[in-house]
Amino acid sequence: MWKMQNAEYIAAINRMKQEKNAVILAHYYQTPDIQDIADFVGDSLALAQKAACNEAEIILFAGVKFMAETAKIISPGKKVLLPDMSAGCSLADSCSAEDLKKFIAANPGRTLIAYINSTTEIKAMADIICTSSNVIRIIESLPENERIIFVPDRNLGSYAREKTGRDIIIWDGACHVHENFSAEGIIRLRDVYPGARVLVHPECEYPVRQLADFTGSTAGMLEFVERDKNKTYIVATEPGVIHQMKKINPEGKYIAAPAKISLTSGNECNYMKLITIEKIYNCLKNEEPFIELDSELMAAARKPVERMFDISKIPAGSR
Ligand code: 13P
Ligand code: SF4
Repeated sequence: MWKMQNAEYIAAINRMKQEKNAVILAHYYQTPDIQDIADFVGDSLALAQKAACNEAEIILFAGVKFMAETAKIISPGKKVLLPDMSAGCSLADSCSAEDLKKFIAANPGRTLIAYINSTTEIKAMADIICTSSNVIRIIESLPENERIIFVPDRNLGSYAREKTGRDIIIWDGACHVHENFSAEGIIRLRDVYPGARVLVHPECEYPVRQLADFTGSTAGMLEFVERDKNKTYIVATEPGVIHQMKKINPEGKYIAAPAKISLTSGNECNYMKLITIEKIYNCLKNEEPFIELDSELMAAARKPVERMFDISKIPAGSR
């Protein structure tokens, strides 16, 4: 049977984007062909900001469900397409609204900060949302004696507590990709490449974070690579980001940090990698699947996202 080639899909996607006034927003963990076809590629914070500030009628989100839902929360008037609805997130799944209600009841009087990698129900319960780019700034914007619950990532939560020294109790959730980096493997790699810079996402476990020359979000890692030209880098986050690193600093050598448990896909996020060019083509053509959320739930979830934008000095933009 005749099947379209990637180049034909890409040409058709570009045509449909014009005809339908659609934009493609892609996370750095997407495959290179998807990053290259996107109108905007970014980390979670920049993507949320872009979802708030664009003139398109349709946003096609090349990322995972919580990101597409965040775009819908911020821009409820737009149609938000997600090419595969099973593109979930192990971290978001690690905190249910029902369990969190019990946790809050057992720990009253605390401000709830939810990492953006959480479900819309959790966002609706939160006082403020944060991303890995602004978590420290968000926490430090609060009075020093304010007591905090941080959900759902135990590693990002511990990192934030170490950095700020604040009274934070942390939900016991994690990302299966970032918890799978091997500290021993990184130490061995450093012996092979003396002087290599180790870049670590704060969703990684403490022993891996201890090895970091830089700890931060994907966007933070890219800024580091841009400043710190011509080095070897061991990258402890989903390896999709290496595509942009090579563009920013082509002289650099980039080595994906080794995994503890060797998965066939290395340390790729299986959810992120569910999105393909073919699925983007079909999704844009049929204008489905799209994100549908209850309007009251969205309104409740929008408040803590807007509070994050305010603290981060990000204009809320067009709605
Ligand atoms: P950032 O791109 O915000 O660093 O997030 C990493 C991540 O795990 C997104 O799923
Ligand atoms: Fe979720 Fe982890 Fe995949 Fe990011 S890398 S989308 S946190 S499962």
